[in-house]
Amino acid sequence: MTLVHTVAELRAALAPARAEGASIALVPTMGALHDGHGSLIRAARDEADVVVVSVFVNPTQFNEAADLAAYPRTLSEDVALAQAAGADLIFAPAADGIYPEGFATTVALRGTLTETFEGAERGVGHFDGVTTIVAKLLAMVGPDCAYFGEKDAQQLAVVRRVVADLSLPVRIVGCPIVRDPDGLAMSSRNRHLSPAAREAALALPRALAAAASGVESGRLTDGDTLEQEAFASLRDAGLEPEYVRAVDPESFTSVQELDGAVLIVGAARVEDVRLIDNLPAASAAPRRTRVPTAQAVTA
Ligand code: PAJ
Repeated sequence: MTLVHTVAELRAALAPARAEGASIALVPTMGALHDGHGSLIRAARDEADVVVVSVFVNPTQFNEAADLAAYPRTLSEDVALAQAAGADLIFAPAADGIYPEGFATTVALRGTLTETFEGAERGVGHFDGVTTIVAKLLAMVGPDCAYFGEKDAQQLAVVRRVVADLSLPVRIVGCPIVRDPDGLAMSSRNRHLSPAAREAALALPRALAAAASGVESGRLTDGDTLEQEAFASLRDAGLEPEYVRAVDPESFTSVQELDGAVLIVGAARVEDVRLIDNLPAASAAPRRTRVPTAQAVTA
């Protein structure tokens, strides 16, 4: 496995594979790798000839300086985990290699998809930072396919939209959330949790599971009640809820009438650590027809 730090080294390392027509996969990460990242690398390994993992803590997507400063940086462990999962090449650029002096371009997706939930909590600059770095990484690596986790479902929807809107020649692959055995979604930030906070954090997947089973059984029929119940259970466990909502999985518009398939997205804080998670749910009730019947119109 090869570790490279500059775009010139990256392109030189990929040139022979590209010349032979080998397929190239990219797994973009910010390092502090865990088995969630490992699952993306393994999925890429199964489908592509060459697997590139990028490791770059992208400063422009952080809205809190303290969060950026505290973000774990563990390159030698990351190299070992990526190699064990099947990576061929690790690209770990320096910040000035990505954002040299004079850098002035932003890829900005506007509308509900970037302005709600993560976009609302972290500020619109968060997704601008993500879309710009992802567009740059795709331009630098030139992969056939790129792998993203459903853990960051809104990010995945944003990336799919950018790739479609800019006609980028890459296939985006979404991979399922990897959880610890007790149900907590793996995250690089989990290492900041104290044992008590780690225990309390389980309230988030539990609240999402309760909401999903409420939707599926038909007990929960509206988005506001779903939110209120989830907020109450999160607060009982000592978490500070940011949002819990049923949304349309592609547009991330909030769904109020729970009579079809939704994604239940949630975010909460415990001891200054931000947790995010999501779970799909489909109501057993058939989707109500939106077209008024003749009887309703004449009534
Ligand atoms: P990072 O948080 O390091 O995550 C890298 C990828 O791993 C993302 O696609 C994320 O959704 C996925 N991932 C993280 N935890 C996961 C889990 N428990 N199960 C499955 N997949 C998981 O997301 C980013 O970095 C950055 O925003 C990035 C896309 C690299 C741009 O800077």
